[in-house]
Amino acid sequence: METATRTDLDWVLAPLAGYTDVAFRRACRRHGCRTAYAPLIDACALVYGNRHNREILARGPDEGWLGVQLLGCDPAMMARAAALLREMAFDAIDINMGCPVGKVMRKGAGAALPRDAELALRCVEAVWRESRGRPVSVKMRVLVEEDSEPTVTFARRLEEAGVSALTIHGRTWKRVYTGPVAAGTIRAVREALRIPVVANGGIFSRADGLRLAQATGCQALMVARGAIGNPWIFRELVAGQVAPPSHEELCETLREHVEGMVALYGEGAALREGRKIILAYLCGRGYHRSLRASVSKVCALADFRELFVRIQADAPPAAPASYRSRPPLEVVGTAGGCRTPTPAPPPAPGAGREA
Ligand SMILES: Cc1cc2nc3c(=O)[nH]c(=O)nc-3n(C[C@H](O)[C@H](O)[C@H](O)COP(=O)(O)O)c2cc1C
Repeated sequence: METATRTDLDWVLAPLAGYTDVAFRRACRRHGCRTAYAPLIDACALVYGNRHNREILARGPDEGWLGVQLLGCDPAMMARAAALLREMAFDAIDINMGCPVGKVMRKGAGAALPRDAELALRCVEAVWRESRGRPVSVKMRVLVEEDSEPTVTFARRLEEAGVSALTIHGRTWKRVYTGPVAAGTIRAVREALRIPVVANGGIFSRADGLRLAQATGCQALMVARGAIGNPWIFRELVAGQVAPPSHEELCETLREHVEGMVALYGEGAALREGRKIILAYLCGRGYHRSLRASVSKVCALADFRELFVRIQADAPPAAPASYRSRPPLEVVGTAGGCRTPTPAPPPAPGAGREA
């Protein structure tokens, strides 16, 4: 597969609840991310003023293109939320039609919304009407794994309702976040629609991204978990620079990220939320297991600073690019519906330090 010449692709940072706040995005943007989404926000929580909204919706003064995502299934509430978002500095409003969480789906929202196509379209129309010219997009999943037709039909209706872009995560809600990506269905939707279709699912490396681009024909590709603890994925995707970050780079980015969270949420909340972030930076990079074990004890900035000094002193042996390696992306539904075989993952070097 061609690897070096795709400079035409757009790499988009996905909405990730609990992650893609302004501190997370700053780290990604520093490494080449130009297009990003804030985490989803529940329409009711926005209308009734949940105390965390301000932090979730914070935008950096110098941030590039930023979308915001609404979750809900009541058109009137979605309209009220969209009217509030109109007053804020977002470049587009996305509607979540892919969240697989039980309590969300039981209410009829997230991945359950496409089951009631009429209601889904009324939500789109309500948000579209209140957005007053700001683009409205949808992020959804493939609806049926082995048959692209239901997804294409629903996507066509979204387009007719005025949606300006559509992101498709190539896994059904039942798959949650695992299993092959139905690239054939994403391709079928892209071919059926005139609006841009963004392909999502399983991009953890440039090779994965190029594979999904090739299998779907999409020019825009969305990265989600691949950016957690690894904002450098954007320089890999954008500039083809596949070398892992140096120890110094990692420390600097980690420190800035955590301090950015403290500025956003205050010390206690930031470090409660920040533990998973710290772990994600350290994970799979050869840092000593005792450091990772200490992360759970970080409650205050002083604890983080103490841990940070230990991290700085623990430069791991130079790790090859494949250090965080995972099995390559598996796609289905392309090349006449054949499943693309997955080669066995290479063993991770230096695993002893990690164990
Ligand atoms: C922790 C976590 C939080 C997520 N939050 C959101 C969200 O707020 N909105 C959304 O549309 N998708 C959300 N997703 C789904 C991702 O955006 C993405 O569609 C999914 O992870 C597949 O992409 P990936 O294989 O590159 O991770 C979330 C996924 C994870 C793992």
